[in-house]
Amino acid sequence: MCGIVGCIGKKQACPIVLDGLRALEYRGYDSAGVAVIDSNNSAQLFKQVGGVENVARLINSSKKPVKSTVAIGHTRWATHGQPSIENAHPQTNQSKTIFVVHNGIIENYSEIREKLIGQGYKFISETDTEVIPQLIDYHLKKAKSFEQAFIKTLGELRGAYAIVALTTEEPDKLFAARLSSPLVIGVADEELIVASDPAAILAHTKQVVYIKDYEMVVVDSKSYKIHNYLKDTTVKRGTEELDFDSEEFSKAGYPTYMLKEIFEAPATIKSATLGRIRLDPPLVKLGGLERVSSQLKFIDRLVIVGCGTSFYAGLVGEYLIEEIAKIPVEVQLASEFKYRDEPFSRSTALLAISQSGETADTIAALKKVEDYGILRLGVVNNVGSTIARMTDAGVYCHAGPERAVASTKAFISQVVVLAEIALYLSNGTSKLYKPLLSELELLPGKAAELLKQTETIKRIALKYKDDRDFLFIGRHYLYPAALEGALKLKEVAYTHAEGYAAGEMKHGPLAMIDPSFPTLALATDSPQLEKTYSNIQEIKARNGRVVAIATEGNKHIESVADDVIYMPQTAEQFQPILAATVMQLFAYYIAEARGVNIDQPRNLAKSVTVE
Ligand code: AGP
Repeated sequence: MCGIVGCIGKKQACPIVLDGLRALEYRGYDSAGVAVIDSNNSAQLFKQVGGVENVARLINSSKKPVKSTVAIGHTRWATHGQPSIENAHPQTNQSKTIFVVHNGIIENYSEIREKLIGQGYKFISETDTEVIPQLIDYHLKKAKSFEQAFIKTLGELRGAYAIVALTTEEPDKLFAARLSSPLVIGVADEELIVASDPAAILAHTKQVVYIKDYEMVVVDSKSYKIHNYLKDTTVKRGTEELDFDSEEFSKAGYPTYMLKEIFEAPATIKSATLGRIRLDPPLVKLGGLERVSSQLKFIDRLVIVGCGTSFYAGLVGEYLIEEIAKIPVEVQLASEFKYRDEPFSRSTALLAISQSGETADTIAALKKVEDYGILRLGVVNNVGSTIARMTDAGVYCHAGPERAVASTKAFISQVVVLAEIALYLSNGTSKLYKPLLSELELLPGKAAELLKQTETIKRIALKYKDDRDFLFIGRHYLYPAALEGALKLKEVAYTHAEGYAAGEMKHGPLAMIDPSFPTLALATDSPQLEKTYSNIQEIKARNGRVVAIATEGNKHIESVADDVIYMPQTAEQFQPILAATVMQLFAYYIAEARGVNIDQPRNLAKSVTVE
């Protein structure tokens, strides 16, 4: 959840680190800090609560000009300790000769802290991270080098970490390490950049080296040396090309990343199908599954795991894969999956869905089945991410970087990919094969058509901007869509919103309905539409207000609901995709009316890398 950046080279490092932190600010932002060591081996440390700009102001107003070709920085989303200057990173040892930025959690920090206090060490922060520079300091007293003290420290840490350390002991080097938290090195012409996310590197180079678990790296102004400190071996690994370009990282003229990413829906659907579907003869080609295609033939049960939006996409995938490929599917919250003691046969496969590919609960789910000998698949957006690397095979979403904390295009790309997987697994035997492939080809155009309704959706949304409670209801494919729509309103507008299976209304939720508790009903053309009409009438009979999402051409709905938002006709299986865009815009405009920070909602982070 935090962002870490280090830079060393010929150029001034501080501006590069600050720009890198700005690119990562979406990950976490309650405090930030930068440490530099100048050519006289004099260290300077700048920390502030709030965003990166507060630190930049501190640096710019420094009496001693900040001139240094090596620097590290951090943006923090608090896990241990309140947002404060003392708890901001970089954390240091007492003599301020060692500076450390960290993303993750040190699970045994209390025992390390107690041990060091027993050795006379004093701590000033409430963070787990502070034990790292202090422990390096402790080992440095006996070690032959800083690198040796660093490795000894890593050997004692338990938990998850991506660490970058800077020291006056060896000011011409950066020391980094990774365990279960992403770390990547960018190799540019005149500098090397170490970061927790390629987004911090992109403006300088696309040549990157992904660091793996139990690897530490010594980086100087021209090169990097990777060492596996578990096996005590040197690792040779060259750079690879990043597949994002910096243009994608700009807001491209939109007021927020979220709105930009909602409007990318047509391109998102296109990218998720590019080179993967053919109409004549009908064919689905998923290169990422080719190498396990023989194993897939024997899969008779699929367990899907994910969190939040990815979990809801998985629920749509359950209907898709069962209906099209006739394979039983069970979707579980990754955070619950790890507690279950359920039977797994070798013909069961696990499918992890994750936009970031770094979600700790989903990683834990994959780790749980590591020794089961079962097939582990992924539907991931972030290329090269931890989850992508942990799975045996998978299908990338190719949605491009998603910067807003609220997932929008991620959901759409995930459902499209799950539909492709369902069609792929059916081996063309499903009667839906050809019609759905044809519909997938038309879907980007339908999404573009729908986005022309934005002003209508905004007008209707603003009628409900002051409501503090909302019910979202849907049946069959539209039930998971209702759950996802409710999550969007919760996340960006901070509204209490519940998604519910429409068939459950009489089993409880109807008791909540009154004029102050509106309902968004997903009432698009489907075999279940008549029953959804009944739900709407039950709500209206109790003076509840209803916004319906309906299929273009349905005139009857206007006599039933208070407000109607129309979407283009599409296959029942793809209605969650277009309905999601409507509900994303609905939540967006209510949030905008409330003046909240839409891209970075309070208390949330884009990638939840702690359990
Ligand atoms: C959804 O809008 C949220 N950002 C959150 O629920 C998210 O879907 C969840 O944390 C899972 O993230 P992932 O897809 O990156 O694993």
